[in-house]
Amino acid sequence: VRDRETEGKAAALDRRASVALGRGLSTKLLVLTMLFVLIAEVLIFIPSIANFRLRWLEERLSTAAAVATVLVDEDASSLSRATQDDVLASLGAKAVAVRDEGMSQLLVAAEMPPAIDEHIAIEATSPIAAVRDALSTALWGGDRMLRVFGPVGDSTKEFELIIPDADLRSAMMVYARNVAILSLIISVITAGLVFWAINRMMIRPIRRMTHSMLAFSAAPDDPARVIRPDRRTDEIGIAQHELASMQGELQRTLGEQRHLAELGLAVSKINHDMRNMLAAAQLMSDRLRLIDNATVQSFVPKLVRTLDRAVSYSEGVLAYGRTQEAPPSRRRLRLAQMVDDVGEILGLAPEGDIEFVNAVDPGLEVEADADHLFRVLANLARNAVQAMQTDTESAVVKRLTIGAMREGTVSKITIEDTGPGLPKRARENLFAAFRGAARSGGTGLGLAIAHELVRAHAGTLELVETRGGRTIFEICIPDQPIALDEARKSIRRPA
Ligand SMILES: Nc1ncnc2c1ncn2[C@@H]1O[C@H](COP(=O)(O)OP(=O)(O)OP(=O)(O)O)[C@@H](O)[C@H]1O
Ligand SMILES: [Mg+2]
Repeated sequence: VRDRETEGKAAALDRRASVALGRGLSTKLLVLTMLFVLIAEVLIFIPSIANFRLRWLEERLSTAAAVATVLVDEDASSLSRATQDDVLASLGAKAVAVRDEGMSQLLVAAEMPPAIDEHIAIEATSPIAAVRDALSTALWGGDRMLRVFGPVGDSTKEFELIIPDADLRSAMMVYARNVAILSLIISVITAGLVFWAINRMMIRPIRRMTHSMLAFSAAPDDPARVIRPDRRTDEIGIAQHELASMQGELQRTLGEQRHLAELGLAVSKINHDMRNMLAAAQLMSDRLRLIDNATVQSFVPKLVRTLDRAVSYSEGVLAYGRTQEAPPSRRRLRLAQMVDDVGEILGLAPEGDIEFVNAVDPGLEVEADADHLFRVLANLARNAVQAMQTDTESAVVKRLTIGAMREGTVSKITIEDTGPGLPKRARENLFAAFRGAARSGGTGLGLAIAHELVRAHAGTLELVETRGGRTIFEICIPDQPIALDEARKSIRRPA
């Protein structure tokens, strides 16, 4: 059963790793190589046809020149009509002439001298003109009459040949067909070889890596699924090494995380029982207050306070351990009212020992989760109050100010105090749970939780400034997404 299961999993992996036929790298590579080789061949093909045409004409001209040289010695005009026609037929031409020191002499000619369509100076044809003429012959030729002329070999004479282009064109066509077939064969062979090489060198290792990644992600705790890198030093070798070390790293981290999670579970269980025990102790210590004894009464308040702190510590840890906060359910809130409430539960008043200033415009409304926002504000305000209470000098100004304003779609709330500022330890571990507590009795959870709650609103909580006498936290909550259509309408209306 086990075997079949693993087989089934392997098949599923294969399915994920496999790419639709014709969509894989190999096929793309094959097609591209063939295409590129073909393009290269075409670039060579056209000039080579032009060249073929010129060589063909040159060959005819030199044969004609050989005949003409013999004829010049004889008295050419004495040649009979029949002999002239035989010579011309064997050359496939209509006339042959020679020019020597400016004197032109027609040696043999057909009875009806034909009209000439194209003059070709063999020596003086530029490559571009050759390509152009070759294309013209190939596309539209076949019944044109050509006059070919130029020097032949080392001879000082210039020869001239009048010849129809039908034979030339069919020879060109045969040549072109042969070259095309050859090109195709070469491109297939090249593409095949390139494909084979690249497939071996790159595609296969890449596929192996893809496989390994998928296999690893299916069971990241199985050490057997970490890729074993090949012994190669190129880019793929490096990639394999990196992948292997990444997978190893991930495996270690996962192991640690599992340990931590188990530890966390144990802690929260212990903590839970501890809280119940502490609560019982708290009840008992409350009863101690009733005892009318000076010694007892001198330590009872301290005992009660210590127990209180222990219980709230336990509760804080328990609350943090609870898996996740519910996602915020936003309502429209009157912020000024909420800030007043925060001041009230912290026992603050405008004319207290710590001056509390609610600088929020009474009309300002914020869209947020009421419970979450309240907890965030209470945490930040409590921190400020606790920090300012440590100042024993009575002349020091102790003022907590909460202000707010709207900037476009974002509500900005600032919590400012005149306390001593955040200690180094708290600054370095800002918003990190348990790590930032720098005051005795602090859990180090307040800021972490506040941060998490604001983030759940897609907002930000930042420490803007902190020094002796001025500490500012800023909350930004994007709360009024602008409906685009509405905005457009409101822009158009005034115009
Ligand atoms: N406004 C402030 N002024 C000075 N120090 C501050 C201020 N706010 C926070 N701190 C420092 O940052 C530390 C971390 O704050 P945080 O609210 O996360 O934890 P805590 O207040 O120690 O414990 P808890 O809030 O969980 O009961 C505090 O211990 C305190 O030293
Ligand atoms: Mg706090």
